[in-house]
Amino acid sequence: MPTSTPRWSPDAPGLAICPSILSADFARLADEVAAVGAAGADFLHVDVMDGHFVPNLTLGPPVVKRLAAATDLLLDCHLMVTDPDTLLPAFAAAGTRMLSVHLEACTHLHRTVQQIRALSMSPGVALNPHTAFPLLEPILPELDFVLIMSVNPGFGGQAFIPAVLDKVRAVDAWRRAHNPGLKIQIDGGIKPSTIAAARAAGVDWFVAGSAVFGADDYAAAIAALRTAAA
Ligand code: DX5
Ligand code: ZN
Repeated sequence: MPTSTPRWSPDAPGLAICPSILSADFARLADEVAAVGAAGADFLHVDVMDGHFVPNLTLGPPVVKRLAAATDLLLDCHLMVTDPDTLLPAFAAAGTRMLSVHLEACTHLHRTVQQIRALSMSPGVALNPHTAFPLLEPILPELDFVLIMSVNPGFGGQAFIPAVLDKVRAVDAWRRAHNPGLKIQIDGGIKPSTIAAARAAGVDWFVAGSAVFGADDYAAAIAALRTAAA
């Protein structure tokens, strides 16, 4: 059970490492989350898949609720689901602090983002690798963070797609002009060999699934990511 207030805030400067529980041992989830917390994770990335928007299924609000009660790490839910609107209240009630939806999955994205904020969650929008920056630009003033997918979503352990860094640079240029507080998150294929280029392009928050949970020593894996990013 959590014994203290969360140690990290979405406004915190500098980089953050966010392990994705997609690569954790789901049969030992509370232990896995405690282990990455002790190993230096800044917050926890929770991949929600509906078997429709992406070809995989994971978990929903009941698991998020139990996770929130079991850890003092903030929960960042990445919704890879079609038309997420009806699910948002349940994710908020479950204890989600940050929540991203996919631009490609939302018919009325502006309304969806407003609803996320009205539910007291920090709103982000995720972009698949093929989705171009200009489609994101109109919604940027409404967001706390952007999630640039550096793999095609659905599975952990895939290879990083370097071309998405052009999009990171475009978001970074936009925020310098309009909103320096906007955070840029990247997700997919992040490991010591890919993180430096992403950091140089402007990424703040690094999701890492297999690079952390696939390692024998979680603390060493997180430290290696921080070192490589610096
Ligand atoms: C992919 C998920 C990612 C995934 C990343 O659809 O959104 O969060 O867990 O896994 P790695 O770090 O192994 O690429
Ligand atoms: Zn994710």
